[in-house]
Amino acid sequence: MYYSDDVIEEVRSRNDIVDVISGYVKLQRKGSSYFGLCPFHSEKSPSFSVSPGKQMYYCFGCGAGGNVLTFIMEYENFTFPEALKLLADRAGMALPEPEYSDEARRQRDLKESVREINKMAANYFYYQLRSPQGERALKYLTDRGLSDQTIKRFGLGYAGQYSDALYRYLKGKDISDQLLKESGLMQVNEKQGMYDKFWNRVMFPIMDVNNKVIGFGGRVMGDGKPKYLNSPETVIFDKSRNLYGLNYARTAKKRYMLVCEGYMDVISMHQAGFTNAVASLGTALTSQHATLLKRYTDEVILTYDSDEAGIRAALRAIPLLKEAGISTKVLHMEPYKDPDEFIKALGTEAFQERIDRAENSFLFEVSVLQKSYDMKDPDGKTRFFQAVAAKIAEFELEIERENYIEAITGRYQISFEGLRKMVANVLMQGVSARRVQPVRQQARPEKEDGIRKSQRLILTWITEYPQLFDVISRYIQPEDFSDELYCEVATMLYDQRKKGTVNPAQIINHFTDPEQQRSVAQLFNTDVKVGNPKEMEKAVRETIYKVVEYTIDQKSHALDPADMKGLQELVNAKRRLQEILRLHISL
Ligand code: GTP
Ligand code: MN
Repeated sequence: MYYSDDVIEEVRSRNDIVDVISGYVKLQRKGSSYFGLCPFHSEKSPSFSVSPGKQMYYCFGCGAGGNVLTFIMEYENFTFPEALKLLADRAGMALPEPEYSDEARRQRDLKESVREINKMAANYFYYQLRSPQGERALKYLTDRGLSDQTIKRFGLGYAGQYSDALYRYLKGKDISDQLLKESGLMQVNEKQGMYDKFWNRVMFPIMDVNNKVIGFGGRVMGDGKPKYLNSPETVIFDKSRNLYGLNYARTAKKRYMLVCEGYMDVISMHQAGFTNAVASLGTALTSQHATLLKRYTDEVILTYDSDEAGIRAALRAIPLLKEAGISTKVLHMEPYKDPDEFIKALGTEAFQERIDRAENSFLFEVSVLQKSYDMKDPDGKTRFFQAVAAKIAEFELEIERENYIEAITGRYQISFEGLRKMVANVLMQGVSARRVQPVRQQARPEKEDGIRKSQRLILTWITEYPQLFDVISRYIQPEDFSDELYCEVATMLYDQRKKGTVNPAQIINHFTDPEQQRSVAQLFNTDVKVGNPKEMEKAVRETIYKVVEYTIDQKSHALDPADMKGLQELVNAKRRLQEILRLHISL
């Protein structure tokens, strides 16, 4: 962190969160909180809450949350120091010179410099494109149907014919070879020394969500090889965590995002008005990409190439997206290869139609699966339906399974009852197999989720009902929170409580990564529906019980049977556990 905790806390506390957010979102008071339409996802009824007491915001719809600094970072796309500056200005405070450790300063300076170099290169390429030498490149782009406005919006450029032009340009700006090496824009070989990585290519700057250039893709104009060159990973460019076009797509506020393969596809779609299109950067979609997407949307429509490779890429992406909680559809591009070609040939309306008719990812997987069975052969057909039944059996809910059975019977020659029985058989086998295997493995994740929720509830209640702290802290200590983040937050919260004030928004200051800030905000905003005080008291009692019971469980699993002292402690703990059930809790 570059500023002292005191400075950060002062800036935060001098900016009332309701005041600040009211400048961006229309808020209405409801009970002790304010509600409005969430600015981070599109919704029709307000689930975005701002709590003046906690000085935090939290969206019950998309999980966005944090303190006033988080809000500015997320809304304005600011880095932490930028958000701090804005809020300091707003409160009429002058910020002191930031403090750095040597290592932090070195890393920060390096990143700053590499960013600066990439920005200079982007400008350089941009002007080259508009110079007489860039004529051919500009023609290439306009021949591919890009308007001036699009070329400008995506900052497209041209790397000239000489393989040392950028090198000399940047040397002229007094940049050291060491830094140039780190920038990803140069190559080094023994004979030639250092020279440009990109030359005689049209250039696509890659921007992060803050609209900062972090790397480039460069395309040959014509049929040369390799068709595209991409910047290598650098201190500022992590391919598995950035998506091309996301800086624009994130503000498109559509219900879904279009995910494609190439730079040109993104640009063509944006030009045609589909500004919610992004691409992974010459790599397969990763789980980090999926997590990133989940911040902005719950649904992805894959618009991969219609060839073999595109289908394989879609099959790999679907489970990753599902894992991240995103539901996926697959758009069919036939007879065209990719979105760029499709839109050029059939236009915007036809593309929108394909979006509307995009196929559910499960049915897409089944239709790919079907190709590997001989459906004219009775055995082949049976094995295909067995495979389908096994896939359907993986759905958690009966209603989901039935809906998919229905969808399959609509497409393939099998009756609803027939397939339902096959699915039931798979489930039965699953049950008997599970009976033989240790049950633990199956039960674990759910239980884990439940206990985490209970632990979050405890933290939320401590902040919302300070009077509960005494009774809670008699039974639950920060070490009882099983997740590292939970434990860290609990330690800080207990500390604050012992000093007399609960200030969850300050706790958020300790985390500079918005992803973590959001998780911390979730800890303080765990929702539970309880009607009257009696029910609430019961819920508190039961939740304390669950958390303590879990700790005892964990300890008893880890206990060495010869450890008599440990055993005695465990017996005591279990006795105290019973006590919790009789606790008198008053709100
Ligand atoms: P256009 O031919 O310009 O329309 O390209 P495209 O976007 O249709 O490209 P394609 O489907 O061939 O490739 C998709 C993406 O993969 C590109 O945008 C690049 O990011 C990447 N890619 C394609 N060819 C190469 C290559 O030769 N080398 C590398 N490193 N990446 C490539
Ligand atoms: Mn293409």
